[in-house]
Amino acid sequence: MRLSAIVIAAALSAAPLFPAAAQDGDAEAGRRVFAQCRACHIIDASARNNVGPNLAGLWGRRAAQREGFRYSANLTQLGASGHEWNEANLRAYLTDPKAVAPQGSMAFAGIRNPEQLTNLIAYLRTNANPLPLPAPASAPAAAPAGG
Ligand code: HEC
Repeated sequence: MRLSAIVIAAALSAAPLFPAAAQDGDAEAGRRVFAQCRACHIIDASARNNVGPNLAGLWGRRAAQREGFRYSANLTQLGASGHEWNEANLRAYLTDPKAVAPQGSMAFAGIRNPEQLTNLIAYLRTNANPLPLPAPASAPAAAPAGG
């Protein structure tokens, strides 16, 4: 009896310790991690940017492509060289922004917790292509003047 318990415990502790890929991440938990980004980033279908660029549509896009945002020369060059926001590149940038863009303007220390990163990337991915904002409710037909 005691031996089989030990065998089971050993089998459980051999569970893989590899960081999960973003498709395994918990986007809902990632939304909470994104609270750290909200001081500077919005992620929605609007045309607005903040201190940082709006992150909607980010997934699979080259760096520094958001219209109406003034990127650093460093990030602009990265984008021009074909640097794409896929899982590996996002993971590197969000772990340590200065390691990827030493002269970049994102003043953020980075997230070192691999699980938080996985969840955050899952969140970014699910918000990569948000639906356009709903059209404003059609205005009621104008009443005849003087009516
Ligand atoms: C203090 C403000 C600030 C915080 C906090 C911040 N960012 Fe940024 N971020 C920026 C700025 C500014 C840029 C533009 C960098 C440049 O041009 O070099 C940027 C750029 C980016 C880019 C590149 C976008 C593109 O279009 O190429 C990504 C991705 C990004 N941030 C993700 C995040 C995430 C995710 C977080 C939270 C974990 C975060 N940032 C936190 C300010 C911030």
